[in-house]
Amino acid sequence: MSLIDAAAKVRENAHAPYSNFKVGAALTSVEGHVHLGCNVENVAYPEGTCAEAGAIASMIASGDKRIAEVAVIADSPLPVPPCGGCRQKLAEFANGDVKVTLATTRGAIFETTVAELLPGAFDAGHMEGA
Ligand code: THU
Repeated sequence: MSLIDAAAKVRENAHAPYSNFKVGAALTSVEGHVHLGCNVENVAYPEGTCAEAGAIASMIASGDKRIAEVAVIADSPLPVPPCGGCRQKLAEFANGDVKVTLATTRGAIFETTVAELLPGAFDAGHMEGA
C-alpha cells in the first residue's frame, strides 16, 4: 500500500465532529516502519490534535526516531498544508529534504519538503552557547 493510501485509510478513523474535516497522515520512519495518525478533536477545541501529530506520536512511542517520508490527505479542493505547529513538529524529527506529499481524496497531489514548509526553522543549533 502506498503512503498516500495508508493516510487515506487512517483518515476514515478521524474524530472530527466539530470541523467535519477529517485528515489522515502516514509517515515512513528511517527505521523502515509506517506510522499512522488522524486528527482527534475535542469539545474543548484547543485540545484537539492534528493527524501529523498523531503519526509522530506513534513513531516515537514505537521506538523509531526519524522520519523518512510523510503523506497527508484530506477531502478538500486543494491539498491541505500542515499547520504551523505541525511544521515545527515535523522539523523536529525530519531532515529538511524529507519529502512531504499533500493529497486530496479528489486526486490532487502536491509534493514539497520539510524545509520548504518551514524555512528558517528554529532548531537546537540556535541555542548553542546558551
Ligand atoms: N488538521 C490536521 O489534522 N492536519 C492539517 O494538516 C490541517 C488541519 C485538522 C485539525 C482540525 O481537527 C481540522 O483539521 C480542522 O482544522
